Amino acid sequence: MRKVRTAVLISGSGSNMAALVEASKAADYPAGVVLVVSNTPDAAGLAKARAAGVEALAIDHRPFGKDRESHEFAIQAALEQAGAELVALAGYMRILTPFLVRAWSGRMLNIHPSLLPLYPGLHTHRRALEADDKEAGATVHLVTPSLDEGPLLGQARVPILPGDTEETLAARVLIEEHKLYPACLAEVAKALQEDGYPPPGDAWPGALGKHGGALG
Ligand code: GRF
Repeated sequence: MRKVRTAVLISGSGSNMAALVEASKAADYPAGVVLVVSNTPDAAGLAKARAAGVEALAIDHRPFGKDRESHEFAIQAALEQAGAELVALAGYMRILTPFLVRAWSGRMLNIHPSLLPLYPGLHTHRRALEADDKEAGATVHLVTPSLDEGPLLGQARVPILPGDTEETLAARVLIEEHKLYPACLAEVAKALQEDGYPPPGDAWPGALGKHGGALG
């Protein structure tokens, strides 16, 4: 069976992206990473992707100023050009507009470093420590218009240990993220293959068509 063409959006170190790329090299893994996009040109993940033989593009959000949608039109153009069928957000630190979320409805995954619905948003590990939680973890979910919500695809749990700091806890969670995300992506890719690639959101393929090709 062919691999589902998957794009990964990053903003930083890209360790989750690297875990997805590594997993996707196995012959029987149902997804293949065809494109990595970063909104920050100096993201370390871009070099990691290229070193792994994956096309990697920087689409800087700064020239677009407050016009987040136009930035997303540029990303969408790159996704369409790469023939992407799934999108995995992996440390992508921009809040999406309804345009991109709708275009990829049911086809966009995110990994969040908490046991959702606990701690959506930032500083998840600090908040878990401040709440004196006994465990922390990570969640992979489908992306919907609300931040860090959407159907859960999987969770990984780790204990919070005496003396933990944000850094030690983040490192323990990250190890689990690198196993959880490839497992969840595989499930979604397999389901797509089995269901015969049903159409995604209301605006794809050619999500840009609706916007008059307003691309830079
Ligand atoms: C991860 O903790 C992920 O859960 C969160 O951002 C971090 C990204 O790390 N969304 P990396 O760029 O994958 O190394």
